[in-house]
Amino acid sequence: MDGNVIELRNVRKEFVTAKHYPGWSGAVKGLFSGEKEKKVAVDDISFGIKEGEIVGYIGSNGAGKSTTIKMMSGILTPTSGSCMVNGLEPYRNRKKNAKNIGVVFGQRTQLWWDLPLSETYTVLKEIYGVSDGDYAERMNFFEDVLELGEFMHNTVRTLSLGQRMRADLAAALLHNPKVLFLDEPTIGLDVVVKDRIRLAIREINETYHTTVILTTHDLNDIEELCRRIIIIDAGKKIYDSTLSQLKKDYGFRCSITFEWKDMPDEAQTRMLRDMGGNIGYRESDKGAKVYFSKKEISVAQVIGKVMGIVEVKDIQIKETELTDIVKDIYQNSAGMGV
Ligand SMILES: Nc1ncnc2c1ncn2[C@@H]1O[C@H](COP(=O)(O)OP(=O)(O)OP(=O)(O)O)[C@@H](O)[C@H]1O
Ligand SMILES: [Mg+2]
Repeated sequence: MDGNVIELRNVRKEFVTAKHYPGWSGAVKGLFSGEKEKKVAVDDISFGIKEGEIVGYIGSNGAGKSTTIKMMSGILTPTSGSCMVNGLEPYRNRKKNAKNIGVVFGQRTQLWWDLPLSETYTVLKEIYGVSDGDYAERMNFFEDVLELGEFMHNTVRTLSLGQRMRADLAAALLHNPKVLFLDEPTIGLDVVVKDRIRLAIREINETYHTTVILTTHDLNDIEELCRRIIIIDAGKKIYDSTLSQLKKDYGFRCSITFEWKDMPDEAQTRMLRDMGGNIGYRESDKGAKVYFSKKEISVAQVIGKVMGIVEVKDIQIKETELTDIVKDIYQNSAGMGV
């Protein structure tokens, strides 16, 4: 296992579904024709994850993230390849594996709909054989960090989304799993609840060295929690590195927005448009936006060039944000294989 808590080797997952024809009549035709088509949701993915890592597992809609999480948590069996979690094949050892992992699917609760939340936790305590001492300690922690107190005695069906998500996270952590899988745990949450969830994840990771795999479309989750990210696209792994390396690899683009003191005359405009050195230039109402790569020219040099041509009232410098980098990678992923 090379010290890896999670190890995927050439994992592939195909789904076989009724062949799809376009349009409504096509859908019916597909249903009755008996023809099948194969969809490759996860295509030859390999990675290893060490104890205590928090890894962001990201990709656009339909990339194969949830399918991978389902294989790692034992819900789905890979078509081929090997997937080991805590030294077990999750889908072969579902019961044993369940003791070692916690799972939260933000889109769907794992809790019993009709049970008051407090009873849910006592049932889970019995299922997982959590000692009284550990139970009391965990519940205190959840109380502090996730603030479950105000709705602890309500039935799950009456909880708001934010309350339900906190409750789900607590349920996944009650037995102190070694590995925590979080599939969009912050989806649809307000900023305060998102913060609570992130805080809980960070604390659990620091206190118990819990290994965390997190899928999310909110890149602030990634910025705040993950050192490493894995990006997948159309079932294939296209990037796997630290967040700081990703920024080094792609985060060199920069833009500066200038507001002019007085609008430039014709000659100045010509000079601005023609600054050379791969500097992009776009005019706006009261100024212009200038784009460039810091690998080619420094921020100071660009500002110097512009101010040498025209008087400036205000400047705003913007480094490429993680969102822009990731958007770029999603859009240009073809052939980027790592
Ligand atoms: N049970 C299934 N049967 C058939 N196809 C499926 C099944 N589950 C997933 N797929 C297909 O596999 C692909 C990957 O789906 P998956 O749910 O893993 O994506 P995702 O990365 O989690 O996307 P999202 O960000 O939208 O949650 C999609 O094209 C999806 O339609
Ligand atoms: Mg998903």
